[in-house]
Amino acid sequence: MLLTKEITMSIQEEKIKELVSRRSSARLSGGQDRIDAQHAKGKLTARERLAILLDEGSFEEFDMFVTHRCTNFGMEGRHPDGDGVVTGQGTIDGRLVYVFAQDFTVSGGSLSKTMSEKICKVMDMAVRVGAPCIGLNDSGGARIQEGIDALAGYGEIFERNILASGVVPQISAIMGPCAGGAVYSPALTDFTLMVRNSSYMFLTGPSVVKSVTGEVVDQETLGGASVHTGKSGVAHFACNDDTETLETIRKLLSFLPQNNMEQAPSRPTDDPVSRIDDSLNSIIPDNPNKAYDMYGVIGSIVDDGEFLEVHRDFAKNIIVGFAHMGGRSVGIVANQPKVLAGVLDINASRKASRFVRFCDAFNIPLVTLVDVPGFLCGTAQEYGAIISNGAKLLYAYGEATVPKITVTLRKSYGGAHIVMSCKQLRGDVNYAWPSANIAVMGADGAVGILYGKELKAEADPEKRAALSEEKKKEYNDLFCNPYQAARMGYIEDIIEPRNTRFRIIRALEATAGKKQELPAKKHDNLPL
Ligand code: HXC
Repeated sequence: MLLTKEITMSIQEEKIKELVSRRSSARLSGGQDRIDAQHAKGKLTARERLAILLDEGSFEEFDMFVTHRCTNFGMEGRHPDGDGVVTGQGTIDGRLVYVFAQDFTVSGGSLSKTMSEKICKVMDMAVRVGAPCIGLNDSGGARIQEGIDALAGYGEIFERNILASGVVPQISAIMGPCAGGAVYSPALTDFTLMVRNSSYMFLTGPSVVKSVTGEVVDQETLGGASVHTGKSGVAHFACNDDTETLETIRKLLSFLPQNNMEQAPSRPTDDPVSRIDDSLNSIIPDNPNKAYDMYGVIGSIVDDGEFLEVHRDFAKNIIVGFAHMGGRSVGIVANQPKVLAGVLDINASRKASRFVRFCDAFNIPLVTLVDVPGFLCGTAQEYGAIISNGAKLLYAYGEATVPKITVTLRKSYGGAHIVMSCKQLRGDVNYAWPSANIAVMGADGAVGILYGKELKAEADPEKRAALSEEKKKEYNDLFCNPYQAARMGYIEDIIEPRNTRFRIIRALEATAGKKQELPAKKHDNLPL
């Protein structure tokens, strides 16, 4: 009897030993040489990345022994455990997340059907339990040897990205050369981060571009981090290395709820709600055409001056990002008078509308700081569809049902006034500083239109200038102030700039329980 038990134990021990050995060889992925090659490029491996992203010891890996089923083009006999992607669950600051990290050391992280099944499994679980899904992408796209199977795998992932959109936050990091299908899944997610000098996004790489169009271009110029965070706007954050990228994801998640049914976690702060900042009373220059820095206002009113800017290098004439106010997570949208006078153009409208829609989908209140001279005019903007693109922002604010608190600091002219979260777009609490000018347009433009003939008829330049000044003063007295809007109830109050922080926080507290519905419909048809 004793003997049998000893034999049973030893068989079990053998099996455990085999498991331990298979696990450690699976962890070697594509082999030490390829891991060394990855390190030589300044890149971490999939597992090293997950160790930085997740709380220590929290990672639980799924499907470590899944292998691909392809036998074409030399794939027979090459069936590494895990097949080029590490998937599972873990926590970030104690909160559950689902993750997948493509492993470039196995067939260049290219997507096989089985890899897609592993990725789809974590995406399905993320939606089922209501937790964010994070993808670390490092992939040559569809696995060429698998043909249509690999394409079908992408189709499965894209469909899940679409169904999960607005249900759980989806975050993509681009951490290597991502080509073909590997870029469309990130494009469907909420936020994309790129690593400078080691990550690229393009539909096809430089060699295909050369053969199709004749254009000679390198990877960086075609789809490097500066291209996608500065020019195309496809990516939201450019980070210096893998570690900074993963830490930025952790930071970003601290502002977000787990899913669309929850509120973002509040963050305790020692920064007093009632803090007054006298410097705001003198931040607006006397000359209406002189710029000031909107970052100064944002830094002054948010908790501890901490602001996580999204899309920092794209359309700098508008600023968007996350902060806490009175411990509550908020999305900030602010015109930047220092860049193009804060005008709204195509890219600014695209950038802000996407951000507003994200905040609305995930119950994050919107704080809007307005200083906008209008929409940018001219053929370049018209040909590029400023009408449809401007309408996106109008649509986004108009449909948003989260608390919307707006402060007009200086200019708020014409269509841009309406777009920037005005009262009629169901703004909840709208304040203005005494320096606010809420009007159809500025005095220069208005007097030119209303008194153009009289000014032209006046031959004496001095008299012409005096007439122009007199009419501008008349116009400014009547329209270029916040009092006309206040008289009509279009703003709730005119506030002293130094009190802005606590007035906004009080409004956020008051509107926290806001409930507003949209009419029943299958889905909207916003001007894409
Ligand atoms: C199979 C691939 C692969 C792929 C790379 N590899 N891409 N294997 N399918 N798509 C393999 C390589 O054969 C190599 O294997 C290993 O990964 C590393 O690749 P290298 O080329 O040596 O690395 P590097 O020089 O760093 O170049 C990386 C790269 C390049 C820029 C990603 O490999 C590349 O251009 N790949 C093809 C990119 C592409 O055009 N993808 C589009 C696929 S179509 P060994 O065994 O030698 O280490 C697509 C359509 C989906 O995705 C559409 C959905 C809308």
